Amino acid sequence: MKAAEIREKFLKFFESKGHTIVRSSSLVPANDPTLLFTNSGMVQFKDVFLGQESRPYTRATTAQRSVRAGGKHNDLENVGYTARHHTFFEMLGNFSFGDYFKREAIHYAWELLTEVYRLPKEKLWVTVYQEDDEAYGIWANEIGVPAERIVRIGDNKGARYASDNFWQMADTGPCGPCSEIFYDHGPEVWGGPPGSPEEDGDRYIEIWNLVFMQFNRDEQGNMPRLPKPCVDTGMGLERIAAVLQHVHSNYEIDLFQNLIKAAARETGCKDLGANSLKVIADHIRACSFLIVDGVIPGNEGRGYVLRRIIRRAIRHGYKLGRKEPFFNKLVPDLVAEMGAAYPELAEAQQRVTDVLRQEEERFFETIANGMEILDGALAELQQQGKTELDGELAFKLHDTYGFPLDLTADVCRERQMTVDEAAFDAAMARQREQARAAGKFKMAQALEYSGAKTDFRGYDMLSLDSAKVTALYADGTSVAELRAGQSGIVVLDKTPFYAESGGQVGDHGVLASGAARFAVSDTQKIQPDVFGHYGTLEQGSLKVGDALTAQVDTVRRARTVRNHSATHLMHKALREVLGSHVQQKGSLVDADKTRFDFAHNAPLSDDEIRRVEEIVNAEVLGNAATQAQVMAFDDAVKGGAMALFGEKYGDSVRVLDIGFSRELCGGTHVARTGDIGLFKIVMEGGVAAGIRRIEAITGDNALHFVQALDRQIHQAAAALKAQPAELTQRIGQVQDQLKALEKELAQLKSRMASSQGDELAAQAVDVNGLKVLAAQLEGADVKTLRETMDKLKDKLKSAAIVLAAVDGGKVSLIAGVTADATGKVKAGELVNFVALQVGGKGGGRPDMAQAGGTEPAKLPGALAGVTAWVAQKV
Ligand code: ALA
Repeated sequence: MKAAEIREKFLKFFESKGHTIVRSSSLVPANDPTLLFTNSGMVQFKDVFLGQESRPYTRATTAQRSVRAGGKHNDLENVGYTARHHTFFEMLGNFSFGDYFKREAIHYAWELLTEVYRLPKEKLWVTVYQEDDEAYGIWANEIGVPAERIVRIGDNKGARYASDNFWQMADTGPCGPCSEIFYDHGPEVWGGPPGSPEEDGDRYIEIWNLVFMQFNRDEQGNMPRLPKPCVDTGMGLERIAAVLQHVHSNYEIDLFQNLIKAAARETGCKDLGANSLKVIADHIRACSFLIVDGVIPGNEGRGYVLRRIIRRAIRHGYKLGRKEPFFNKLVPDLVAEMGAAYPELAEAQQRVTDVLRQEEERFFETIANGMEILDGALAELQQQGKTELDGELAFKLHDTYGFPLDLTADVCRERQMTVDEAAFDAAMARQREQARAAGKFKMAQALEYSGAKTDFRGYDMLSLDSAKVTALYADGTSVAELRAGQSGIVVLDKTPFYAESGGQVGDHGVLASGAARFAVSDTQKIQPDVFGHYGTLEQGSLKVGDALTAQVDTVRRARTVRNHSATHLMHKALREVLGSHVQQKGSLVDADKTRFDFAHNAPLSDDEIRRVEEIVNAEVLGNAATQAQVMAFDDAVKGGAMALFGEKYGDSVRVLDIGFSRELCGGTHVARTGDIGLFKIVMEGGVAAGIRRIEAITGDNALHFVQALDRQIHQAAAALKAQPAELTQRIGQVQDQLKALEKELAQLKSRMASSQGDELAAQAVDVNGLKVLAAQLEGADVKTLRETMDKLKDKLKSAAIVLAAVDGGKVSLIAGVTADATGKVKAGELVNFVALQVGGKGGGRPDMAQAGGTEPAKLPGALAGVTAWVAQKV
């Protein structure tokens, strides 16, 4: 039975049992920064289990694309070495949301396996959680599995609920006891039943996990019950396919065969059983689907996991002898294999190929050097009889050659060696520390501060009386007083000044008290909730304890907030126009512009840019009031707020609704979208593989931009004596005229050459019946020389001719001999005779030859000698 049919039969079976077939969700869990990747079918239903989301059905079934690389469930290191580990796999599952529980789950599973898939009952074993007498009873009494094939598994992993038969999605979230079904591949395969010391062998393979979801584990390890008990099951498509196709390894099933062949084709490997081909075939699935779902290779979080997988695949190709990009060429094969079941893959084929190719090109630049160093080090260690690679070297490979640790470990493992990971971690930590220290340098020294936190009032006011100075700093140390002319930092108990964060720059403004006037040129947090006003005391003096008026530069702030609010609208508009893979990768908002970096793989077309502008400007015209609410993080994401992966959010967050956008944001914003004024994109470009950058402007900046454009257009139109509206047409006309003139000029030149030809023909000298001519043509180029030559040959019939032209310090020469005379005079020799005298050299065919020279002054003498030279020959 083919994998496609197995998938289909599973879904149809559960549909016949009242389940709704639900599409696979993305590999990037929606609004769930706690989970790296969708690692099983239940992820998209997590909130339904928790009772926080309701769906129109209580039974569902899916074929879910899943990735287990990085995070709690990580199989990356095993791929290629075992018969059944994958980074990417498809999980078939059925789910009950407070509907049926253990009994039906077990009965359904048994019916499907034995009646639909027709597996022999005696080949099936089951496990239950030690304490789960209920499940045990159902298997033993209702299904009739003999007691010797039912195994109870307890907390065998060292802690309460740490068990093979207690499943949890991640360190927190829904969990519960489970019951697993195993298939016995027969005594010819080594291994023992679950729970036995030989259980890791390949004989007894877990094919289906039935989880009885009952608890929700929180961060403290508490396990309150779910509102209703639920069912979550998972069966790896690749495993059940191996069983049904009577093959022993998942890599032998139909789904993998073509991919392995494609990997062999691209790497030139002849041995279809090579582990490296399995690795490549596995990794092309994971990488492609991750890219489909918006992940871009990068240096942190999901992007880094993707990069690691890609590099591991490249390294295995490299091992097989591929020294240039090959991995991306497997994408069409994958699409052929899985595009029908996953149309989103087929759709993204080009983008996936591009992202992979760029990443490959990058890594191939350094892999050779890195491999050489690693090979050398390993050979040396082997000679010394050592088995562990130094962590410092592993770190150097990581830092300089982009070798992720698991890649280095993979190479070591092939040679029965290990890596000193503790030393690697230490080197990494040391580098982070240095980088942090360097990063802080901008803020001079770390500042000691033990006073109250700063109360930020700047969301709704720009000026504040009676703010109190809680600390002053000059030259990096705390001082009691600042004097006129001194630069320093002022900390206040409350302030309307925004301190730089979330991409928005810090405010400028003035702090004033009596005669004192402190000009603020930047605001930065000196500690998480302590705002430092950086600047210079222009007059008077300022002491700790003084009360003062804090006045933000309102024009600058207004420009900044327009750009910030526009950024939110643009982010949302980009997702509408380009797709939901668009994710913010960085932003800078200041008074001049917003600069926004995001994941997307191709340049935006003019049309896409226009659409983004139109959508944002339509929101501006909608003039909706901005709303900010502080709420629990969970509630915020449930309400659809966009949370950025990798950003740390506290328990309570600020949710900002601006027009049609909802994001978590602590920044300052316009009161109504209309305040943004005109929004205009002024730049679009690439900053790194898979990352685009847009710069846009708003308000008066946008107005000035448009005015400047308008001025330029008017000036250009005036220069062409046209109206602005006619500009394009007028430029077209001018270009046409130019083309016509060029053509005319060329004709003229050729006519001139031919008339020169007539005059020249008259100068030819007769040498024994052969006409000999050597002449310099004024202002001719090589083309004219050649045309003139042809004309002269025609006219003179039997001739040996040299023509020359001088352009600056350069001599161009051409020699021609008519066919009847080439037996005596060779054009190549003739041209060379002249060329040698003018500092050049040349040659060519007997009838036509060209040369150059660098000494124009000697040309007349050289040409004068031609007749005599020819005379010798004839
Ligand atoms: N969520 C369960 C698993 O992944 C079914 O094994």
